[in-house]
Amino acid sequence: MCGIVGGVAERCVTEILIEGLKRLEYRGYDSAGLALLNKEQILRERRVGKVANLAEAVSEQHLTGNIGIAHTRWATHGKPTENNAHPHVSGNVAVVHNGIIENYQELKDELQALGYIFTSQTDTEVVAHLVNDALKQTDSLLEAVQKVTPRLKGAYALGIIHTEHADELITVREGSPLVIGVGIGENFISSDQLALLPVTNRFVYLEEGDIARLTRTSIEVFVNGERVDRPVKELDATVSNASKGEYKHFMLKEIYEQPEAIQQTISQALNGNNLREDFLQHANADFNKIQQVQIIACGTSYHAGMIAKYWFEQLIGVPCQVEIASEFRYRTPVIVENTLYICISQSGETADTLAALRETQKRAKANNINISTMTICNVATSSMVRETDHHLLTLAGPEIGVASTKAFTTQLAALMLLIIKIGQVKQRLAAAQLTEITEALWHCPKVILDTLQHNTAILRLSALFVEKNHCLFLGRGTHFPIALEGALKLKEISYIHAEGYAAGELKHGPLALVDNEMPVVILAPNDEMLDKLKSNMEEVQARGGELFVFADENSGIQEKDRQHVVHIPAVNEWLAPIVYSVPVQLLSYHVAVLRGTDVDQPRNLAKSVTVE
Ligand code: M6R
Repeated sequence: MCGIVGGVAERCVTEILIEGLKRLEYRGYDSAGLALLNKEQILRERRVGKVANLAEAVSEQHLTGNIGIAHTRWATHGKPTENNAHPHVSGNVAVVHNGIIENYQELKDELQALGYIFTSQTDTEVVAHLVNDALKQTDSLLEAVQKVTPRLKGAYALGIIHTEHADELITVREGSPLVIGVGIGENFISSDQLALLPVTNRFVYLEEGDIARLTRTSIEVFVNGERVDRPVKELDATVSNASKGEYKHFMLKEIYEQPEAIQQTISQALNGNNLREDFLQHANADFNKIQQVQIIACGTSYHAGMIAKYWFEQLIGVPCQVEIASEFRYRTPVIVENTLYICISQSGETADTLAALRETQKRAKANNINISTMTICNVATSSMVRETDHHLLTLAGPEIGVASTKAFTTQLAALMLLIIKIGQVKQRLAAAQLTEITEALWHCPKVILDTLQHNTAILRLSALFVEKNHCLFLGRGTHFPIALEGALKLKEISYIHAEGYAAGELKHGPLALVDNEMPVVILAPNDEMLDKLKSNMEEVQARGGELFVFADENSGIQEKDRQHVVHIPAVNEWLAPIVYSVPVQLLSYHVAVLRGTDVDQPRNLAKSVTVE
């Protein structure tokens, strides 16, 4: 998705803006640009492709300035061209924008009738012209922006500068993330705090509808024209968290960080084999009341929710529904009393999940229906965390690779902790089961470490996928969502078409696809479905399919002709999906590297999908 960086300082901000944009590259983009104010002039440079292209152009021309805005664009309205790249300029105004202005066509018609010339196909350009136009009635840039925003429909975050206001930067947050980085004698804005970590660890998190004016030494935030206070919060993430270290890609680093990330996530909740007394304590009354759970999420986070459904129902007998947020938000679902609505999201900013949450809250309030809301999230300061009654953080550290890995497995660990908690509050979890699961949770990082030892074997297998065009992933029970997740990973980073299926569905359709060109990945933990899964493997082999099996070391599944096996260490059945995620991540990673794709920033995808 698009990214914004801006700054106002005594020093030149060019390098800070470029470094900020580089740190936003992981979000996905197709062009980049920057505008600086220098001697009452706007110096603008835009380039299609990587930030490196922009950096080269900026350095060749020695562009400098003490105030500036910069942007990475992920094309929505208009192709990825230089003209469509941000910042957009109208007269003395320059604007960067994340999000979508839904009524831009109507505004564009009006502005064209007034004589404004459009040089791009973007929705953003209307904002630049509207602010320029509003400045005919006021000398204040802030007032002009305040006049314009009520006219904009949609979701947006903005950064705006003006040549005659060479000491101020105006920013707006309305439905799209925006933070202010607080420096000493300098201030910054960004759509993602990671971009600003080299310059500050102190942030002001704007709320929806906030408009802020930044100078070098002041930050003023306004809502409906009134000054409001927003606290400054200190972040403990370190700059080094956002570097690849010894790894070739962020994705690989993040795969290897999973043992530690899971350890961190469970340590916040467990004391030995018991839950810490203060773990989600404030939610006890709500958890006691709930009769069922509704999970809302997208992509990989949705797959985590699918696994939690098995756990909620089998372990503690609490009915659980899971739905993709983009469907849930538009289908007017019945809001049921005493339901716990759980959003699962790595970023906490995914537009569909956030909208589904807000819609649910709105309708529950309007109809006086008692519900509770909760977020499972990797970003403590995210919108979802702030807008739900309760939250549980996955302590995975920043996840930069577009393909979600450690965020997924820590979501699973967090969900299991939540289920234990609700099971205890509702007295539905036997002591023996609590001990079994908590012991297994503590053991999980070690089993993942042992599984990572198979990296070379998985790399060897991946060579057999490079020339393939299609692939099937099969699993049963909690490994059906892992099959979906494996297929999602492979398609998003290697661009091989892949489908995940519940193995029992094979003969209801997908078996027709199986021939000797079709690799079939099997997830075979040692559970009560193993014999049935072995029958499914026979069905594939009988049709000439080539099997790639991640099988429990005690499953009895061995290598044979057209059956490749990687033995996964024995693991407690409940937690097996966490461990079996790892080989499918490694497989996708190696196939993608061998195919030469951009692993961390696959084409057309964004890390955080903050627009619809
Ligand atoms: O930040 P979220 O967890 O809400 O993001 C949801 C999906 O966009 C995300 O999981 C996506 O599917 C990943 N790229 C998959 O690897």
